[in-house]
Amino acid sequence: MTPETPDATGLDAVSSLQVTGAGPARGSLRVPGDKSISHRAALLAAIAHGPTAISGLSRGQDVTHTLRAIERFGVTVTDAGEGRAQVEGPIRHEPDEVLDHGNAGTGIRLTAGVCAGIDGISVLTGDRYLRRRPMDRIAEPLRAMGATVDGREGGRLAPLVIRGGGLTGITYAPPVASAQVKSAVLLAGLSATGPTTVEEIHPTRRHTEEMLLEFGGRVRVDGNRVTLEPGELTGTDIAVPGDPSQAAFWAVAALLADQGEVTVDNLYPGFGRSDFVGVLERMGADIDFDLATGTLVVRASRLRAVELTAEDIPGIVDEVPVLAMAAAVADGMTVISGAQDLRAKESDRIASTAAMLRAFGVRVTETEDGMVIEGTARLRAGRVDSHGDHRIAMTAAVAGACAAEGITVIDGWESVATSYPGFAADLVRLTGTAAAPAA
Ligand code: S3P
Repeated sequence: MTPETPDATGLDAVSSLQVTGAGPARGSLRVPGDKSISHRAALLAAIAHGPTAISGLSRGQDVTHTLRAIERFGVTVTDAGEGRAQVEGPIRHEPDEVLDHGNAGTGIRLTAGVCAGIDGISVLTGDRYLRRRPMDRIAEPLRAMGATVDGREGGRLAPLVIRGGGLTGITYAPPVASAQVKSAVLLAGLSATGPTTVEEIHPTRRHTEEMLLEFGGRVRVDGNRVTLEPGELTGTDIAVPGDPSQAAFWAVAALLADQGEVTVDNLYPGFGRSDFVGVLERMGADIDFDLATGTLVVRASRLRAVELTAEDIPGIVDEVPVLAMAAAVADGMTVISGAQDLRAKESDRIASTAAMLRAFGVRVTETEDGMVIEGTARLRAGRVDSHGDHRIAMTAAVAGACAAEGITVIDGWESVATSYPGFAADLVRLTGTAAAPAA
């Protein structure tokens, strides 16, 4: 296995990238540290008393923003290189600066939960894409716990201003299935009076619950219901595994062209993150995910259409664009529904995924809560706008390199650095595509 690839090509920062249709993706790789787990490791290490050593951190900009944010609370972060960091908690004071979370929805929403628990004022903001994303989903429960949350449009949108402290635990049933909302409420609950319970409509990723236990937190999961008792956390050592959502790009890459075969190791094997494997299996993929080792092996396969509904979405919430690309080359008509929350992601992911597929010559009909994709035998190279969304950019790059003849151009390529520095280098190594800056 090769280690995480740095930006050997120097292509991470280009605003438009072109790739040539090259053929199958073949080889082994290790993807960046899991982004969701990295955010939580940084925040819990900041809250906890005593040192925490973290290894395998995502080196994407999203997590870097969270690491910078916790420093503003008086927490010392020592970067030991290669994704290793030493964090010395606990939080000492309200943030002494505006917290800039860049493009990171997870970063701002989880940090808001932390801020709600701190006596004092916090101001949180992000880039132009993040400032458009809904924040009422966290503002409402945090207000119910006793925090004051204000912002543009009545606290709906960042910049957010939070006056925290003096919270009371609540029982909350979020109207959307969202691990970010669940996590914000639980993080606030750590310093509340009395227990905090979150009841989910569909179960979502459990990283916060799992990691709270690692830091000595008192948390109980019972089906869709999680209950936290307030209390102090203690620093510990955290090894962040590889990010299954990033591996999903390589899984689909392997499937897009004859002779494709990709192995990704060291992936997080736990609940709620690898449902894309089951979806690809339903589509007929030759795919194996070893839960004991976290190793994923995928081989080129003929794919058939699939139906994805509201029940499926929380487990594949970040993989819909790349699964839609798999559906684009599958036999038959794929129907995706119950995915309306995708309109509130880094981009309106229903619109941007549909536009991306059309750029490759695929027939797709957008619906309010999903899309209908007509599988085709051949993709046409095209020009794709990422709309500032890393997952659209990476999906288009994989399709352009593995399944389209000619030159595909991706505008807004720089968004990839939010989560996967070195993606272009990995793409070149696995597919042989001639990737270059585009005009
Ligand atoms: C995440 C939860 C999901 C996901 C995001 C990461 C997390 O968002 O889309 O990329 O780390 O908790 P929602 O909670 O908004 O569904």
